[in-house]
Amino acid sequence: MKKLICANWKMNKTTGETESFLRELLKALGSLENSVEVVIFPPFTSLCVAKELLRGSPLKYGAQNCFYKEWGAYTGEISPLMLKDLGCSYTIVGHSERRNLFGEDDETINKKLKALLKVGIRPILCVGEKIEERNANLTHKVIESQIRIALSGIEGEVDELDIAYEPVWAIGTGNPATVEDAKEVHTFINKLLDELNPRREGRTRILYGGSVKPSNAKEFLKEREVGGLLVGGASLEVSSFLDIVNSL
Ligand code: 13P
Repeated sequence: MKKLICANWKMNKTTGETESFLRELLKALGSLENSVEVVIFPPFTSLCVAKELLRGSPLKYGAQNCFYKEWGAYTGEISPLMLKDLGCSYTIVGHSERRNLFGEDDETINKKLKALLKVGIRPILCVGEKIEERNANLTHKVIESQIRIALSGIEGEVDELDIAYEPVWAIGTGNPATVEDAKEVHTFINKLLDELNPRREGRTRILYGGSVKPSNAKEFLKEREVGGLLVGGASLEVSSFLDIVNSL
């Protein structure tokens, strides 16, 4: 399996900034190692720019969220069909910022995953515990519940999606999980997926996210249990994102 390195830009960059970033990245990157897949997640408003600039390049792009209906009277929402039309290969679902700031629950996330799989976009499901949950020894319980509900009814398609473990306390804090903690949770997730789908082929990559920087990317990526990285802040500058990609 190729390791998957994702740039989640969150609510950052205008179309002009997206264009400069992508031009500079493509120029600096040249070709990509066969062992790595790189995906940029700009805001919705920059997806057209990504489509234009990344055509024929080794980089892929995707959306940070979507709604679960195909079309209709849902003011302000974007459907998986529209993302497919824009050439998105991936879409992030259930990021902790969506859960905690916008009240997204596991049932909604389940519907979004189903809708994306239906149009052939590969979802990246985000899961992770809050600090008070970790301190109360609830990490496994929280993650198990998030995954069981999110994958309910689509256990058979688990090979068609990836999962990002992003402990909430590690996001944007400069305080990443230790590699040992990440490995421990990734192993737990893998066992849970085996239970949910004993016939799965093992194509679900488990990514780590939360304060990934050029200085720590390598130690995560060298572990077999870590299928890739979901990078926030450090993906906003070409040089630091490139250092992360090149650390493989
Ligand atoms: P940071 O890399 O800024 O901690 O953000 C992680 C994240 O939320 C990626 O989805």
